[in-house]
Amino acid sequence: MLISQTSALITGGASGLGKATARSLREAGAQVTLFDRDNERGPMVASEIGAHFAHVDVTDADSVAAGLKLAKEKMGAVNACINCAGIATGEKTVGRDGPHRIETFQRTIDINMIGTFNVMRLAAAEMQGNDPNEDGERGVIINTASIAAFDGQMGQVAYAASKAGIAGMSLPAARDLARSGIRVMAIAPGIFLTPMLEGLGQEIIDGLAVDVTFPKRLGKPSEYANLARFIIESPYLNGEVIRIDGALRMR
Ligand SMILES: NC(=O)c1ccc[n+]([C@@H]2O[C@H](COP(=O)([O-])OP(=O)(O)OC[C@H]3O[C@@H](n4cnc5c(N)ncnc54)[C@H](O)[C@@H]3O)[C@@H](O)[C@H]2O)c1
Repeated sequence: MLISQTSALITGGASGLGKATARSLREAGAQVTLFDRDNERGPMVASEIGAHFAHVDVTDADSVAAGLKLAKEKMGAVNACINCAGIATGEKTVGRDGPHRIETFQRTIDINMIGTFNVMRLAAAEMQGNDPNEDGERGVIINTASIAAFDGQMGQVAYAASKAGIAGMSLPAARDLARSGIRVMAIAPGIFLTPMLEGLGQEIIDGLAVDVTFPKRLGKPSEYANLARFIIESPYLNGEVIRIDGALRMR
């Protein structure tokens, strides 16, 4: 799909990886609508980069449906969906204060995994109405997993499970949507310098970079955005999860 013919919705577009992707796609000539629950940063980022904004909670079906309606009105169609909305949580299976709270586990799954699926299913239904391009393509969906899906660390049991769920959706969803000409891919980032991490302080950030093989630094959000763009432009990429992590294998 040509970026100039792309009309993308980006969840979590008010911050970090989603924001960088929105900026990059806008610079390359795509239309973009940000879906985010952050009502302050969302509209600010949208006006800064020339995107539209919809106040959306990805866990809420009505909210996503209303966001899709707005995105279609503003852009004419939606043919790319990039799911970046997510939260990071940390708690051990059994910690100092007892067993993992079931509420925090459920909330992590609810936002990261079910939220991603909720947006994917509704966006795909919308994309089915698009006219196909020369490749027969009606749309592309890019979900954001994490390398924690494969090598989750101590305290990451809920987060890793939520991301493994996203990784596991790529192939069956790609198969489900193949007849409609809709591709499904996932990106599994290593450690990227976004607001999710920026609050940790330089010493901790340097510590996180130690295990990265090369280049020995955290990922830049623009590097995630480059990969998202490449996936949109590459019709033969489908049903797979791509790690982008400087060969980091977390221990
Ligand atoms: N930063 C990293 O190192 C890293 C690594 C691996 C995976 N990821 C994943 O990438 C994605 C983006 O992470 P980031 O670092 O850019 O985080 P971020 O905190 O900078 O941005 C996340 C955005 O998602 C939004 N959001 C959260 N819950 C939402 C909801 N229910 N509905 C709508 N919007 C919601 C937030 O408001 C925020 O704008 C996340 O799914 C995260 O798990 C990040």
